Amino acid sequence: GRKFFVGGNWKCNGTISEVKKIVTILNEAEVPSEDVVEVVVSPPFVFLSYVKSLLRSDFQVAAQNCWVRRGGAFTGEISAEMLVNLGIPWVIIGHSERRQILNESNEFVGEKVGYALSQGLKVIACVGETLEQRESGTTVTVVATQINAIADKVSSWENIVLAYEPVWAIGTGKVATPAQAQEVHFELRKWLQGNVGAEVAASTRIIYGGSVNGANCKELSTQPDVDGFLVGGASLKPEFIDIIKSAT
Ligand code: 13P
Repeated sequence: GRKFFVGGNWKCNGTISEVKKIVTILNEAEVPSEDVVEVVVSPPFVFLSYVKSLLRSDFQVAAQNCWVRRGGAFTGEISAEMLVNLGIPWVIIGHSERRQILNESNEFVGEKVGYALSQGLKVIACVGETLEQRESGTTVTVVATQINAIADKVSSWENIVLAYEPVWAIGTGKVATPAQAQEVHFELRKWLQGNVGAEVAASTRIIYGGSVNGANCKELSTQPDVDGFLVGGASLKPEFIDIIKSAT
């Protein structure tokens, strides 16, 4: 079976005192054991070490991005090697906010995923269509093109979690229905089956992101191909605990 995975993407939010508050809430929470659910929180770079030092040991930490290749003269970037050196096990790559606002292409995202894996990081790789793409009926083609660019640069899928995050559902309060999420997760798994292999398709976690909250997580979590969540806004609130609990 695929272990349930709940990621909290804090995006560009938080002060030192707010970070301390949310970590305290997480540390005091009673949640299913790490054999049942993998919990990963993703603070901004500047808080990574602080969060890692305070956070309970059964929860892990992810960066929200990293540089595409080996570090060097790339002002403002953070390299995969640095994250490894800091003891950060995970990185989110290809989030739609980076694809859309910072113009990261499918190829660039694929290259980043490949490089991060080569350095020993585990990767939460994000795909998802815009509203316009969904309305024009191209959702499956769009996510297939995105996953294909990742697969081109990846030789082992062992350390990848795939996040399906429809852009129209992110930060909008318009969550995908369980059926909408399941449909795309099924297509992604089918793509893996046809293009990578049956074993990878069966074992790769595909998690959903986009307006997940304490009230809608349970029904989404019961869909056969939904293996967890990548949570934005609600990951900064106590209801993140309820989302973790939807694992069981
Ligand atoms: P929201 O949960 O705020 O919609 O954000 C989802 C997301 O982008 C997680 O990476």
